[in-house]
Amino acid sequence: MHSKIAALLLPVLALGNPLPQATPDPSLITIVESSYSGNGCPQGSVSTSTSPDKTVITYGFDLFQTYIGPGTKSSDHSKNCQLHLNLKYPGGFQYAVVDATYHGFARMDKGVTGTFLTTYYFSQDAGKTSTTRSSFTGGGALLEGQVYTKQDSVETTATVWSPCGTTGILNINNRVSLTSSNSSAAGELSNDDATVAFTQQLHVAWKACTPGKGGDSGNGDVIGINQPSSDVAIGQ
Ligand SMILES: *[C@@H]1O[C@H](CO)[C@@H](O)[C@H](O)[C@H]1NC(C)=O
Repeated sequence: MHSKIAALLLPVLALGNPLPQATPDPSLITIVESSYSGNGCPQGSVSTSTSPDKTVITYGFDLFQTYIGPGTKSSDHSKNCQLHLNLKYPGGFQYAVVDATYHGFARMDKGVTGTFLTTYYFSQDAGKTSTTRSSFTGGGALLEGQVYTKQDSVETTATVWSPCGTTGILNINNRVSLTSSNSSAAGELSNDDATVAFTQQLHVAWKACTPGKGGDSGNGDVIGINQPSSDVAIGQ
């Protein structure tokens, strides 16, 4: 299963300029740095890789796994991992789609239900969130265990008045959880990797940035979330 997932990831990692010294395009929204927190992603259990043009980031999770059934504790039934992406925005008007793709594994007896919930929000506008949810029902094909792909697309816009741009923090809170109507039934649900890509970027600049002159105060800048769409595919 894991070699299949690695093969799926290769095209993503191959995106962008292969030169290691490639400088990010200053007209694109780029990932400056990233961090993560939560009981599904303790320090040391996550591998991270960013494309040379800094528009795509991939995380591999070793411990983002939930279990339910005989011998499990309630802390095994739910895990979360929040991703924090510190983004650099060019000045002007931005339209971008955040495409997030998740792969994992689901195995569930009849009576077990799994949920993978993702909430997207900007720290600048924490009251406005976009949430996607994928549900898994035990029994049938999930008795044997299946890999799955969850694909989210979230539209974002930003209006950045500072000619030299500003920064924004996008938070992506992922939670996988299991419930059961039968204490003898068992199940597991994992999230093995996440790839977050900024695509379809449209950028309209109003003023040129003059390095060294600094920007206007960023007080008028607006960065926000629009509509999400989500899809889950189980099996190959
Ligand atoms: C509960 O789950 C176990 C294990 O899957 C199964 O053998 C049993 O028939 C289930 N009981 C009910 C009432 O569905």
